[in-house]
Amino acid sequence: MKIWAHRGCSQMYPENTLLAFGKAAEIKGLTGIELDIQLTKDGHLVVCHDERVDRTTDGIGEIRQYTLAELKRLRIDAGDGKYEQIPTMEEVLELLEDKLKEEFMLNIELKNSILPYEGMEEKIINLVHRYGVQNRVIYSSFSALSLEFIKKIEPNAETGILDTKVSDCLYKLKGGCGADALHPYWRGIDLPKERIADYTVRAWFAGHLYPENPTGNLLDLEMLEQKGITDVFLNEPERYL
Ligand code: G3P
Ligand code: CA
Repeated sequence: MKIWAHRGCSQMYPENTLLAFGKAAEIKGLTGIELDIQLTKDGHLVVCHDERVDRTTDGIGEIRQYTLAELKRLRIDAGDGKYEQIPTMEEVLELLEDKLKEEFMLNIELKNSILPYEGMEEKIINLVHRYGVQNRVIYSSFSALSLEFIKKIEPNAETGILDTKVSDCLYKLKGGCGADALHPYWRGIDLPKERIADYTVRAWFAGHLYPENPTGNLLDLEMLEQKGITDVFLNEPERYL
């Protein structure tokens, strides 16, 4: 089972921040980091899960209504009187550049299935190429059209199609998006293992339900493997590795 840091080490540190990514990069045996990108009003790629800043920062409103300079004034509480900012994708690549040139991967989820971010695909592909880490990146999205577009721009790009059920991932794949892997919710394995045995199946775990008590029981990764899951995105990868 390959283990990824979901939004960085996002249980113990604020999700999708340089702090959470830096902590993940220190974990021995981690396959890579998953993160989410949005687009600012002035066309910068930034890393944030939600389309709005309300949940994770001290601001309110949609990211697309903020310029990068305005977004950078918002604070993300990192505890002990310390604060993080919403990082740009460029800052993340700067941080992880050397690590990515080793055996380390980055899964960039394009958050473009709720708001249509025109031009996002070209922007992220160009930026990844600028850092020369295109062989270490997997692009994912709930939008099959977006993944199809990525393959048109860069046929060698590795992609993963997101949906809740693995059957819906497969349905979108067969619809022609050309994805290389299936990215279902971990409870969404609704097909027998034989039907998905030929695919890389990276399963994700949602949310951060218990911030006050992060250390519940460990998930049974063997059971997940028996269902055909090859990789997991975890908020607490450090506990498993
Ligand atoms: O990319 C897998 C997973 O992160 C998708 O769900 O809501 O955490 O972005 P979400
Ligand atoms: Ca995500």
